[in-house]
Amino acid sequence: MSSRHPDEPMEDEFDTLPIWTADAVEELGPEYAVPAGCRGSGTPEGLRWLSRSMGLLAGTRLLDSGAGEGGPAELAAREFGVSPVLVDPKHGACRAARRMFHRPTLVAGGERLPFPGGAFDAAWSLGVLCTVSQKHAVLTELRRVVPTGASVGLLVFVRTVDTLPDQPEGNDFPDRVELGRLLRAARLHLTVEATLSDFSEPPSEWHEKVDEVDDLVRQRHADDERLMTADHQQRIMGRLLDDGVVEGRLLVTRAF
Ligand SMILES: C[S@@+](CC[C@H](N)C(=O)[O-])C[C@H]1O[C@@H](n2cnc3c(N)ncnc32)[C@H](O)[C@@H]1O
Repeated sequence: MSSRHPDEPMEDEFDTLPIWTADAVEELGPEYAVPAGCRGSGTPEGLRWLSRSMGLLAGTRLLDSGAGEGGPAELAAREFGVSPVLVDPKHGACRAARRMFHRPTLVAGGERLPFPGGAFDAAWSLGVLCTVSQKHAVLTELRRVVPTGASVGLLVFVRTVDTLPDQPEGNDFPDRVELGRLLRAARLHLTVEATLSDFSEPPSEWHEKVDEVDDLVRQRHADDERLMTADHQQRIMGRLLDDGVVEGRLLVTRAF
């Protein structure tokens, strides 16, 4: 009989899968790391738009809260020259990010960041807000670690209907009204936003690399129940996005 804890689907997705991904990248080659490490947040074009809109520049000290496998921060480092620091509560995600990208990486929850106020020039948190119950704490912490006037970027999966037909376990999608309230309460002023689906699809080589990594993970762990659980979670999320009942919003906010 299974004795799985209710939080375990997310453990599989955010703890175990990153390690398997880093193993696959080690086998296939370093050029697979950024596409594989960006799966949590989608399109590189969206990340470029967010980086530009936040005014990220060479040397910008960027905190990535809930960085996962670290692909988005690495893209910003390589293309915009930022100096990222990665934080995620899952040991597996942090170990995978360190192995793939060798950036400063800490295990910590976004509700209590282990940094003094104003320690960073900018901060972002991508695809995290819908996975946490303490949304206010995560946002106020992002606000606290940057100075007034600094940019805070978000990718938030928002609910466009009152009730969802289904949802991945451990997720709690805000609607746009609730999101607006949360931003104001955290002293974050929304300056510009975009929908993830507005951006062009990644080039085919990007997709091919992601698929090769996925295939290798599948070969190595085909019979592992944890892979099936993570797949199931991702399929539900894919359906919600395809049906338009959840949408990915990229937000640029300014700390006030
Ligand atoms: C969908 S993934 C996104 C990962 C990464 N930001 C990306 O865009 O590729 C969500 C991440 O949020 C992290 N997370 C879960 N609870 C968190 C918390 N309380 N504070 C910060 N991050 C959290 C998970 O471990 C996971 O890595």
